[in-house]
Amino acid sequence: MSNPGWADWAAVEKVDPEAAEAILKEVHRENTKIELIASENFSSTAVLAALGTPLTNKYAEGYPGKRYYGGCEFVDVVEQLAIDRAKTIFGAEHVNVQPHSGASANAAAYFAFLEPGDKIMGLSLAHGGHLTHGHFASFSGKLFDVAPYTVDKETERIDMDEVRDIALRERPKMIVAGASAYSRLWDFPAFKSICDEIGALFLVDAAHFLGLIAGGAHPNPVPYADVVTATTHKTMRGPRGAMIMCKQEHASAIDKSVFPGWQGGPLMHSIAGKAVAFAEALGDTFKEYAHQTVKNAQTLAQTLTEEGCRIVSGGTDNHLMLVDLQPLGITGKEAEERLDQVGITVNKNAIPYDPEKPFIASGIRVGTPAITTCGMKETETAEVGRLIARTLKDPSQAAADEVQARVIELTERFRPYPDVR
Ligand SMILES: Cc1ncc(COP(=O)(O)O)c(C=O)c1O
Repeated sequence: MSNPGWADWAAVEKVDPEAAEAILKEVHRENTKIELIASENFSSTAVLAALGTPLTNKYAEGYPGKRYYGGCEFVDVVEQLAIDRAKTIFGAEHVNVQPHSGASANAAAYFAFLEPGDKIMGLSLAHGGHLTHGHFASFSGKLFDVAPYTVDKETERIDMDEVRDIALRERPKMIVAGASAYSRLWDFPAFKSICDEIGALFLVDAAHFLGLIAGGAHPNPVPYADVVTATTHKTMRGPRGAMIMCKQEHASAIDKSVFPGWQGGPLMHSIAGKAVAFAEALGDTFKEYAHQTVKNAQTLAQTLTEEGCRIVSGGTDNHLMLVDLQPLGITGKEAEERLDQVGITVNKNAIPYDPEKPFIASGIRVGTPAITTCGMKETETAEVGRLIARTLKDPSQAAADEVQARVIELTERFRPYPDVR
């Protein structure tokens, strides 16, 4: 089929030159900085094209074959493709691809089973968990009674004996595994066995590592968990959005909780982007991508350690790590700013048992999904590690200039959208 012509960039420039300029500058920024934010990635041009289609126009409240609007015959096909592909990739019994975001997916999953005031257990935000896992500033902490678990002070890993002790004492209705800043594998069978012991539901928030699961570079929680929520835009490399997978017995509760419980009409253009991203994940190269992402993270952890940084828990099993900057005498905030000036994008992040306030933080979180998408392998990733260390250890302008020059050379070769100049 020929391109119907809606991807009309000239029209954006004509109608709204101010927005067009900012958009172009953002694409330029993505092309010319080294992106190490662990929750970010670069969608393919196929995913971007699917997002920019007239599917954004369509109201499709309901589910394929059971809609509250006419004219859904083609969006039904698109949504069913996304569902079927996700089932194949993750071995899930039931999939809902409508959640607009990870936070919405978690809310819908909680409200499928819980009432306000029920108790949940999740990893504390200060130790790598997500706001929606029970932090007081989020709906989850406001509406539920929360019994958080933490990482062990010595190993900086989750201690399953402690999780079990807390679970036996607190008797939560749901236990949540998954995090935003935890670099180790999760013991899904051990969580499941604790949930079975106390009759709790088991929810895994796979937002961060979904793409690694899809590529076979991370254990799959689907066989163990009652519900798995995930975003589609992080390691999964799809459009911004989310999904929920569950056992068949929970299918109706989950679907009702997403719509009409928590959301209105689904974003059909985003669901089209999810379908395309899942097709990519089923292709030949995605496995290689997922494994390379982990190899690159391990290379980065090793290089930073050799350069005098301390990696929380001593290393990484996934796509990210927390770097404790205390040995270098610099805070996370300062590090984020200094790295930004040389073209390396990271975020400051609290480390477990951090003496600093979260806005200052003793660490940074770094991840390799985006640079791996750009084609970097171990050699380039090790160089990125040395550039980070140089910047953090040497505040001189000469060092910054040298690093910045090298960043420009690297991003000339490794950029997400080489056709956009
Ligand atoms: C583990 C986890 N869950 C949920 C979310 C929320 O996703 P969103 O920003 O799409 O609402 C995030 C986002 O960073 C996350 O890391």
